[in-house]
Amino acid sequence: MQILRFSDLCANGQVAGKRVFIRADLNVPLDADGHITEDTRIRASVPCIQMALAAGAAVMVTSHLGRPEEGRFKPEDSLAPVAQRLSELLGRSVPLRAGWVDGVAVQPGEVVLLENCRVNPGEKKNDPALARAIAALCDIYVNDAFGTAHRAEATTYGAAQYAPVACAGPLLAAEIDALGKALAQPQRPLAAIVAGSKVSTKLTILQSLAGKVDQLIVGGGIANTFMLAAGLPIGKSLAEPGLVDAARSVMQAMKERGAEVPIPTDVVTAKAFSADAPATTKRADAVEEDDLILDIGPETAARLARQLAQAGTIVWNGPVGVFEFPAFGNGTRVLAEAIADSPAFSIAGGGDTLAAIAKYGIEDRVGYISTGGGAFLEVLEGRTLPAFEILEKRAAGNAAAQ
Ligand code: 3PG
Repeated sequence: MQILRFSDLCANGQVAGKRVFIRADLNVPLDADGHITEDTRIRASVPCIQMALAAGAAVMVTSHLGRPEEGRFKPEDSLAPVAQRLSELLGRSVPLRAGWVDGVAVQPGEVVLLENCRVNPGEKKNDPALARAIAALCDIYVNDAFGTAHRAEATTYGAAQYAPVACAGPLLAAEIDALGKALAQPQRPLAAIVAGSKVSTKLTILQSLAGKVDQLIVGGGIANTFMLAAGLPIGKSLAEPGLVDAARSVMQAMKERGAEVPIPTDVVTAKAFSADAPATTKRADAVEEDDLILDIGPETAARLARQLAQAGTIVWNGPVGVFEFPAFGNGTRVLAEAIADSPAFSIAGGGDTLAAIAKYGIEDRVGYISTGGGAFLEVLEGRTLPAFEILEKRAAGNAAAQ
């Protein structure tokens, strides 16, 4: 993907003394008292800010937080907790500015955080007047918000369209590079793990990947629907019988390409959905009417782990069992360890997947962990994200003007 990179502008000395507007994704979870419970996205935003400061820019940073009502700022919408955490991480005070659309006072070598951008009327609808006003605040617009790259809003799209220069920050650029390595020019075999409770929420991902990957490993409720499609009994397990035909056509499309959807040969079942329900391992064709399938069995996990060991690239979205319950976490643990041990380039994304990575302690052995939730899923669906699209257009415009 041809985009302008902020790191290149900094390296070429084009940033000193310039006003730089960074759209970050600092949308972090807060508890009822407004304390940040997980700060990965704030930590991930630090390199871009440091890069801009080191290059001598006057730095403005903004983000959305939650989904506030436009034009009606409420205290709980405030980025104040983020400003505090950012100050700690940068080791300097980061003042928080409200009412910033019509002008921001900031000097080279300073950084300010601009209050929740989704409170500005017109943000969600990408209002051109708002986008132009934001673009006019800066000399260089930097999008470093991969988590929001699937939204065409004033700070993610319109500002990039109208700013004098528009480029990708280091986080966005790293995500683009990792996704390109995994999906555009993958080292083969390419294996994808797509798991979750419902085929319906991931059907477009399954259909898109069916045309690309060599193995499509399904898990969770999705795997149950595929087992039904393969003629296996699933008892009272979560599944969508109405999507059995869709699952069959994914399997057929894969087969025609010489690729496969590996169906479990053994499973771990329980009679109730609870952490202390006794777990029973059985053959996949011996599932009883009152059984719930809560994990893949050890034979299936070992077979999938062997396939992952031979993969060139692995894309992982979703745990294959109810890993929150220790008795049903073996499948996810074995696959997590296989990904960690595999020489393949691996990329993982999605909330539950990150929780599984943390639980099994393999953070340092996954090739790339995406900060995107919905954005990561939309890339897997094969969509072009609006934030990527406008940066590419701007880069093409620059190239044409040279
Ligand atoms: C996310 O948390 O996935 C991103 O910050 C995007 O948030 P949104 O779904 O409210 O646009």
